[in-house]
Amino acid sequence: MRTENAPVIRLEDYRPTDFLIDKVSLDVVLEPTATRVTAVLAVRGNPAGRPGSPLVLQGDELKLLAISLDGERLAPNRYKADPQGLAIEAPLPEAFTLTIETEINPSANTKLMGLYRSSGIYCTQCEAEGFRRITYFLDRPDVLSVYTTRIEAARDDAPLLLANGNLIERGEIAGTNRHFAVWHDPFPKPSYLFALVGGRLDTLAETFITASGREVEVAIHVEAGKRDRAAYALDALKRSMRWDERVFGREYDLDVFNVVAVSDFNMGAMENKGLNVFNDKYVLASSDTATDADYAGIETVIAHEYFHNWTGNRITCRDWFQLCLKEGLTVFRDQEFSSDERSRPVKRIADVRGLRRQQFAEDSGPLAHPVRPRSYREINNFYTATVYEKGAEIVRMLRVLIGADAFRRGMDLYFAHFDGTAATIEDFLGCFAEASGRDLTHFAQWYEQAGTPVVTAAGHYDPAARSFRLDLTQKTPPTPGQAEKQPMVIPIALGLIGESGRELTLTTAEGNLIENGLFVLDGASASITFTGVDERPVPSLLRGFSAPVKLETDLAEADLFVLFRHDSDGFNQWQASQTLATRFILEAVRGARDDVDARFTEALVHFLDQRAESDPAFAAQVLALPSEADIAREIGRDIDPAAIFDAHMMVKSRIGAALGERLEALYAKLHSSAPYSPDAASAGRRALRNAALSLIAAGDPAAGEKLAGTQFKDADNMTERFGALAVLALIPGSGREEALAAFAARYRDDPLVLDKWFALQASIPEAETLERIKDLMRHPAFSMGNPNRVRALLGSFAMTNATQFNRPDGKGYDLIAETVITLDRRNPQIAARLLTAFRTWRMLEAGRREKAEAALRQVAASPSLSPDVADIAGRSLQ
Ligand code: BES
Ligand code: ZN
Repeated sequence: MRTENAPVIRLEDYRPTDFLIDKVSLDVVLEPTATRVTAVLAVRGNPAGRPGSPLVLQGDELKLLAISLDGERLAPNRYKADPQGLAIEAPLPEAFTLTIETEINPSANTKLMGLYRSSGIYCTQCEAEGFRRITYFLDRPDVLSVYTTRIEAARDDAPLLLANGNLIERGEIAGTNRHFAVWHDPFPKPSYLFALVGGRLDTLAETFITASGREVEVAIHVEAGKRDRAAYALDALKRSMRWDERVFGREYDLDVFNVVAVSDFNMGAMENKGLNVFNDKYVLASSDTATDADYAGIETVIAHEYFHNWTGNRITCRDWFQLCLKEGLTVFRDQEFSSDERSRPVKRIADVRGLRRQQFAEDSGPLAHPVRPRSYREINNFYTATVYEKGAEIVRMLRVLIGADAFRRGMDLYFAHFDGTAATIEDFLGCFAEASGRDLTHFAQWYEQAGTPVVTAAGHYDPAARSFRLDLTQKTPPTPGQAEKQPMVIPIALGLIGESGRELTLTTAEGNLIENGLFVLDGASASITFTGVDERPVPSLLRGFSAPVKLETDLAEADLFVLFRHDSDGFNQWQASQTLATRFILEAVRGARDDVDARFTEALVHFLDQRAESDPAFAAQVLALPSEADIAREIGRDIDPAAIFDAHMMVKSRIGAALGERLEALYAKLHSSAPYSPDAASAGRRALRNAALSLIAAGDPAAGEKLAGTQFKDADNMTERFGALAVLALIPGSGREEALAAFAARYRDDPLVLDKWFALQASIPEAETLERIKDLMRHPAFSMGNPNRVRALLGSFAMTNATQFNRPDGKGYDLIAETVITLDRRNPQIAARLLTAFRTWRMLEAGRREKAEAALRQVAASPSLSPDVADIAGRSLQ
């Protein structure tokens, strides 16, 4: 076992390996509790390494059976082996073949890293450091090898045998009940992209013809009996393949592309070359079991993992510090894909909501770190919102700064220069510098400096001079290890809007400061003077959310109303409505308001009249208020989640009451009797209908309960059924309990649907919820061994139920702390993720802060913690 005193790994200590492994030939004999792995490695000295070095391979809980070098058994005095590593003494030949035989127990693998057996299926998860749990290896991303994998298993147990690459041979083992398959992947890859699967699975397959006319078999393999739930994922896969050809000029490169869905999986999905392995939550969908949001999630994750084939696999990362090179870039690509397939402004709004909720929260607490961290103890803890979402924002800013054409040329250069290599952020940025002719040195600071910059903007209109001056400043707060901050390069897309709603032309005194509505703030402050401004303008700043910053403006309420009514930028139009609602809720938290401004509800009615029918998905985003977590972030210190809840509820119910009739009419009008289709337009109408229902219920619980009850009974799809149940869940009484019971009875054999049921109950903002969760932990469908169940019940509680996780008596913290400690023995990665729910504990009011700290200390003091949990607990307390 690794200990909690994991050493610190530093970027500055990077050096190439002393050896390279050009070829790997694996022979895996699958048995539930004693799988044998024979690895034949073609090793040679690395010209960039130190000559005369010993060969040191990593392992993790391995049992070595035999080892030979160039066909000769190695004498015991030539090597040292333990479960965590294998070292062979120098001198070693310039090039040699190493044959290593190990034994592993997939059934006992509860960490779900390496080779494990879950629900009767053998599968692997190797990123980041799981390959070392299969065989001893140079388990790091800059060692690229060509893999050939032979898998052998009992035919009944595992009729389907898959690995990376193309199938080159298969057959029976004469005289036995066993068979084998041999797969070859011609593309050199790092060990973290290795995968194999063995099991009884149903397959949905089709042929895809690439742009250049190559035939590819695309196949999705799912648990027996669920083939018809894989159709949407297969469709999303084909659309992703086409999109990458069209938008980035990237074709698929093997003869087959396999996707396997498994029910026990730590993450969402994994991009192993030619053999993606998915959490079945991101594959399986039917109108009866999946919501529109689930469909959208499947589309995103399928696209994301597919896009990694070029950004991640063909070009991989030199070391794990460069993780955002593949993850941030690939998130950017999947966001663009979804924008093109659905609505761009709605997708942007949803992504920014997510960024603020996850990444801004992370950036403002003890777990803040740069997009490219400088050091880590446990790499699994750095698959964060910062690396992913802020990493994607950096790529987006780059495109805004240099323009779409230069951006595409830069991407082409990146593929041309670095295909087949393990690259760095510098390599990546160099391509865009080359393509655009710009110096990106200062921009690169985005990768190094943690924390969310705060941009303030103040406008001054001079009617006599017909000029408007905009003063901008930026400041980034200190984060762990970074007390002093430098100014960043912040692209600010902007426009000026006249009071009547007219978009004013941008002419600046100094000439060309502004090009295409873009101002680049790259110092601590700047002023822009616009000339020829005939009326007092309202500035629309940070259009499309052009940089991941907090914007503080001096806009009056009246200005925000102008933006809400007239801004041609959809994102900022939505943002204006959110800013107004945020102000009302903040005033209510301070006790300075007990109602909502009638001008706001009137503006909402006006907005619905204009847009509800033409753009329901967008309207649904406007009707969704800022979350309690958004309000907490605005307040920033001495947070009282109960006070925020009350203020939030007040504002929501006043809006619901004021708009009641309009919303009921809308609700009725949006009803559709057409058969369910997951397309964006239909999903938009359902989203608006559910948003209306939620507001109606807030304003008039009796009316809401009645509508929701009927919707729950009559729904022919999960989006409407679950939308209704979510409304009912907030209204205490027998109606709610009956609906919850009916839902559970209907889906008792469907764990993925029961996850929604667990999550919903965990999110009820009532004191009884704690006991409800403890009961649900004993429910037959719940299991601590399944990551999806743990996330649904305990993750939802800790991450979304602000009032109950933050109970004043501290019992919410205690439940999560105890769960983390128990779970850590089984699955450290999932335990560590759950513990990040404490990431903003220092911002709480004193009473809760003290209780949260005590719970964190209890975790930190618990004996034999994994490095994963020890790292999160330690940094959270720093
Ligand atoms: N490479 C990751 C999967 C991964 C994450 C492996 C952490 C090991 C540790 C994969 O490409 C990924 O990013 N998956 C995301 C979903 C995606 C749509 C952002 C995930 O699993 O959450
Ligand atoms: Zn990824």
